[in-house]
Amino acid sequence: MEIKEFKLERFFGKYEFTAPYLLCCSDCESFAVSELLALEKKSGEKLDKLWLGYTESQGNPALRQEISRLYRDIKPEEIIVTNGAEEGIFIFMNALLKGGDHILVQYPAYQSLYEIARSIGCEIIKWEMDDRNDWKLDFDFPKNKITEKTKTVVINSPHNPTGYLIPKEELNELTCIAKKSNVHVFSDESYRFSEYQEKDRAPSVCEIYDKGVSLGGLSKAFGLSGLRIGWIATRDKKILQRMLSFKDFTTMCCSAPSEFLSILALRHREYLIKRNLEVIEANLNLLDKFFEKYNHLFEWKRPAAGPIAFPRIKFDRNAGEFCKNLLDKKGVLLAPSTKFDFGNAHFRIGFGRKNMLEALEKLGEYLKENF
Ligand SMILES: Cc1ncc(COP(=O)(O)O)c(C=O)c1O
Repeated sequence: MEIKEFKLERFFGKYEFTAPYLLCCSDCESFAVSELLALEKKSGEKLDKLWLGYTESQGNPALRQEISRLYRDIKPEEIIVTNGAEEGIFIFMNALLKGGDHILVQYPAYQSLYEIARSIGCEIIKWEMDDRNDWKLDFDFPKNKITEKTKTVVINSPHNPTGYLIPKEELNELTCIAKKSNVHVFSDESYRFSEYQEKDRAPSVCEIYDKGVSLGGLSKAFGLSGLRIGWIATRDKKILQRMLSFKDFTTMCCSAPSEFLSILALRHREYLIKRNLEVIEANLNLLDKFFEKYNHLFEWKRPAAGPIAFPRIKFDRNAGEFCKNLLDKKGVLLAPSTKFDFGNAHFRIGFGRKNMLEALEKLGEYLKENF
């Protein structure tokens, strides 16, 4: 397998644990193990006694039961637990695609959503979003571009890096288009439950389309990225079986302590999500004020969901240069759009962490000194 470097992950590999001020992370504030254990009496004792043998390849049944509760009419047997959402993307693409197939991908995108397909020899057709059009998707695009070679449409909502949320009606429209051509819809819903208004939460694609494959995980809204727990949910038995067989060649099964803590976390999901939405809301209010003050330098589109956004630079310098200079001078990490192969005029800002204000103040200092 020949695969290109994952630009954003290599960038994080270099700076995430060395830069003093992280201002572009896509996950929410995490929790200590003790905080999770405090959610239920005797859970510490249960963890002490946890058996560290192999776990079930499809995922602990009790965990799949908890995950199925996040959906309408999805059964535990229609779920595969994976090591992070990342593994879910890898096994889906490998289970479905072969060289010469086409895939349509909402773009910009988290790189693995198209890079794995490219490494298999597929043609990638980018379904581009544009901030000049408020990041809205043009649904004539899939209507015109799906051919007999197309195997799947890949979407991501709430979206990384823009924070765009595909409205419910449009999601229905997309599944109708896909159904007519009998293609899968792979829906990366890793940021689900981070919608600022609950009423905006769209159904999961696996609930509304037989060939819909939904990807979920605990890394983002739940703030538990270190557990490395994600999942696939689909009613399509054939693809589910193929993914399960492929997982035998990747990780086989998940870590027992992670599964244990994930069950606990999901039983208290309202608490975890509420805490993180409060962090996001407080930070967003700060960002609104910040971008209003600096509206001569940046174009700010307030997202509808998630802990990330993708502002545009208005001044005469490219995003890569700006982010590098900011990091060198103030130790603040922003991710330039070059890491998404999406021009050089945007950067990703992350606001799911409690200490965002500190990093934002440093950015403010930099702007005052340089503009
Ligand atoms: C859109 C998207 N999908 C998948 C992932 C991978 O998430 P995980 O940490 O659960 O593997 C990420 C991580 O940033 C992401 O942004």
